Amino acid sequence: MKHKPVEGFSKMSKQGKIEWLVNEYLNGSEKAMQTLTQYWNDDEELQKLHDEFSENTLSNFYMPLGFAPNFLIDDQLHCLPMAIEESSVVAAASKAAKFWLDKGGFKTRVLSKTKLGHVHFMFEGDKEKLSRFFVDSLLPILHSDTKQITKNMQARGGGILDIKLVDKSDEIDAYYQLHAEFDTVDSMGANFINSCLEQFANTLKSEMENSEMFTEAEKDSLQIVMCILSNYTPECLVRAEVSCPVEMLSDKGISAQEFVEKFSRAVKIAEVEPYRAATHNKGIMNGVDAVVIATGNDFRAVEACAHVFASRNGKYTSLTHCEVKDGQFHFWLDLPVSLGTVGGLTSLHPLVKIALEVLGNPNAERLMEITAVAGLAQNFAAIRSLVTTGIQKGHMKMHLLNILNQLEATEEEKQHFVSYFKDKTVSHHAVIGEFCRLRGVDNLEELKRK
Ligand code: MEV
Repeated sequence: MKHKPVEGFSKMSKQGKIEWLVNEYLNGSEKAMQTLTQYWNDDEELQKLHDEFSENTLSNFYMPLGFAPNFLIDDQLHCLPMAIEESSVVAAASKAAKFWLDKGGFKTRVLSKTKLGHVHFMFEGDKEKLSRFFVDSLLPILHSDTKQITKNMQARGGGILDIKLVDKSDEIDAYYQLHAEFDTVDSMGANFINSCLEQFANTLKSEMENSEMFTEAEKDSLQIVMCILSNYTPECLVRAEVSCPVEMLSDKGISAQEFVEKFSRAVKIAEVEPYRAATHNKGIMNGVDAVVIATGNDFRAVEACAHVFASRNGKYTSLTHCEVKDGQFHFWLDLPVSLGTVGGLTSLHPLVKIALEVLGNPNAERLMEITAVAGLAQNFAAIRSLVTTGIQKGHMKMHLLNILNQLEATEEEKQHFVSYFKDKTVSHHAVIGEFCRLRGVDNLEELKRK
């Protein structure tokens, strides 16, 4: 079916938009209309709040918010809020937390928390002159012209840390940057950084225009390409680690020595083999993203940063590492993660407020630490399963309910399946087989008809 473009969609009423969508793309289905409206919140104020988070909001898209308890982080117990739809992630996090609870727990440390942004510009002229102009006249004015913007941030202990002129003309002819470093304290700081950068660009333009150092041709060649923060923040870095004597690590019927060998080999493989590193890091991000979303932060930014960092030496590699030294097992994650605990969704979304309260209303540094722990725990749980029982055993147990819901099992049937699979391996095939037996049919087709 061919669709027609729509004029003024954003100006239509919510009902009008739904009707248009259902008629144009969902065959006028009453059921689709009902489903979209069924997810509205009865509390109109709350619904309005969610509508206004974004544009053209027609419904709400629920994500489970789970909590993983027993995380001992720097000698403090935490219960981690995790917003994630993948069935085994919260269970795996909780298991890893329990595993490390009596082994000293997780230790963390923020290594640095500098955020970055750039004015990307073109200049066809004398490099030396540009460099002298930057140091001798532009730099102090960049600071003074942004005083109004930085006033509040400075009062909170942050602001602009440094501004450098970077010559990139070897890579693209005439390309330069103002590379700026910021401390945005407890805010993610995107608006603050971008406002400073746009002011830098205006100052650069006007100061060059008024300068007597440059020829008219040089002045005319200046072009601001764009001003934007960078989501790659390798210096907004946190380390989370666990360690214990090797002999404490005997697990699931295998000796401590064997467990550590298998575990270390799995990490080594992720360090050298990008195919494995991608999956290994995806598992880390299962934990990281879940906490980032639950605390109202930007998980796309966090993802982008983590993967660039993982390839910073020219080859994509593992974000976690391990070693055995003097009979002690060490396992750690270095994660660049730029987070905020004030501003943005953090003070607006009622569930984000709860999540932050459960975490003890952390500052941004503490949230970085907790988030990195979630990633390390997730990775530990995944590797532990992979090198012992295999991943499917736990995964399919958690996935069982999804399969049963797809088959529209009753509550009674679900209970039967949970106890039936207590001592058996869950597979799609095995669930169908048992379901057919239970309902007295021969195959899936008949099952669907019943
Ligand atoms: C699944 O979401 C994540 C894992 O694949 C991670 C890993 O393989 O390390 C289990």
